[in-house]
Amino acid sequence: MTQPIHVLGFSGSLRQASLNSALLRAADELLPEGNTLEIFDLSAIPLYNDDLRTHGYPVEVQQFRDRLRVADAVLIATPEYNYSIPGVLKNALDWASRPNADKVVPLKGKPVAIMGATPGMFGTVRAQMHLRQMLVYTDNPIVNQPQVLVAGAKDKFDADLHLTDDATRGFVRDLLHNLVKLAALYKRESAQV
Ligand code: FNR
Repeated sequence: MTQPIHVLGFSGSLRQASLNSALLRAADELLPEGNTLEIFDLSAIPLYNDDLRTHGYPVEVQQFRDRLRVADAVLIATPEYNYSIPGVLKNALDWASRPNADKVVPLKGKPVAIMGATPGMFGTVRAQMHLRQMLVYTDNPIVNQPQVLVAGAKDKFDADLHLTDDATRGFVRDLLHNLVKLAALYKRESAQV
């Protein structure tokens, strides 16, 4: 029997009415049964400063790193800012890419799925491509298909920011199915090592 997969999800947008955070909440409904999604709010994470790291990770960063460390997989919802990912998200990934004293890098090698929403036309495609490139450094296997590029997103959520568009719900469901499948493979393999 396959073991349950625990996914840590975070959004690159901090604003209350964020379409990306709404997409992440929708993922909680669409995750294959028996698995769990924990949503981590990046708003308390300070700006990366290597002096802080060498004195010990700030408590908010340590919490993020701890939650990542116990997760089997990662789900990132990113807006597009200036054709790339928001600084908030880059900053969090920078903190997650550094080692502990025991050399553990919490982001390293974790299976990742990416999705994004925009009221604009291109559905965060440029941001997602940059994010894929960044995750090469931490050697993350990334779910390639489907690409969840939610363009014209204001029409795909209702007034309470509930994802109502059936096609988008289908893409998110398929993305999560593939993430869980990939994470299960990695989990099984690491249990055998
Ligand atoms: C944007 N936005 C934007 N949109 C886009 O399609 N390409 C881009 O390069 C940018 N650049 C950009 C920069 C900055 C600083 C802001 C604040 C916004 C629009 C942005 O993607 C849009 O507002 C999304 O709705 C933001 O995501 P949330 O907050 O709804 O999750």
